Amino acid sequence: MAEFNLVLLGPPGSGKGTQGERLQEDLRLPYYATGDILRAAVRDETDLGRTAKEYMDRGDLVPDEVIVGVIAERVCSPEALDGFILDGFPRTMPQAEALDAKLVELGRAVTGVLLIDVSDEEVVRRLGGRRTCAEGGHVFHVEFNPPKQEGVCDLDGSELIVRDDDKPEVIRKRLETYHEKTEPLVSYYDQRSVLRRIEGAAAPDVVAEEIRRTLATMRLEQDETV
Ligand code: AP5
Repeated sequence: MAEFNLVLLGPPGSGKGTQGERLQEDLRLPYYATGDILRAAVRDETDLGRTAKEYMDRGDLVPDEVIVGVIAERVCSPEALDGFILDGFPRTMPQAEALDAKLVELGRAVTGVLLIDVSDEEVVRRLGGRRTCAEGGHVFHVEFNPPKQEGVCDLDGSELIVRDDDKPEVIRKRLETYHEKTEPLVSYYDQRSVLRRIEGAAAPDVVAEEIRRTLATMRLEQDETV
């Protein structure tokens, strides 16, 4: 069977993390979310975390050379041999080109990019009510996806917090950064015929179902070409 080397693309708050968690369970593939990796590094006060923090707090991207190595190492790892899911990477043209170059070295390629499409207004609504689990990064929303017990993660019982970059002024900056630096990747991957658009404004279960259908179609198309 052909492999799935997948990228989740979309603005901040579009639901990449929410859908990424489900996809990881469905596909049983390693899931690499650069935002989670960087937040863990900040929490652990590693060199990577110390470098990343100031950029993240402002809503800027961390420099390409910092993040590319982090992901290159993971896609080359034995656990990713049968495929992987990337969330939040690539986010700039140089990152996309670096990923392609690394995969070419391995005789592989990005096989699917799921663009989760939502409006800027929806992003602001979602990020304003997001609550994130301090330990495992699990994601909730006070209105759209509330935890069973307020302030406590359903999955691991840890405290739910408001992310430092979910303040209104930082949300606006993150959206600007997305439109300027990340949106050009939509046509980059469209030209390579790997982009699939997912309507992200629907409820999480509806979005998840659309993603399942899209992946099933992609798998059929891939199997026909191998
Ligand atoms: P990162 O953590 O990747 O942030 P992001 O891309 O801005 O995405 P978010 O995590 O904010 O949102 P999401 O799309 O995962 O949505 P979620 O599922 O949580 O990156 C953070 C920072 O790290 C960056 O700003 C940058 O500084 C740095 N960084 C990371 N990667 C980098 C890279 N490659 N290069 C350079 N710098 C990098 O959902 C949001 C909310 O909505 C939740 O509350 C959820 O419950 C709710 N929700 C989800 N789906 C739905 C739905 N369908 N309906 C209603 N509510 C929903």
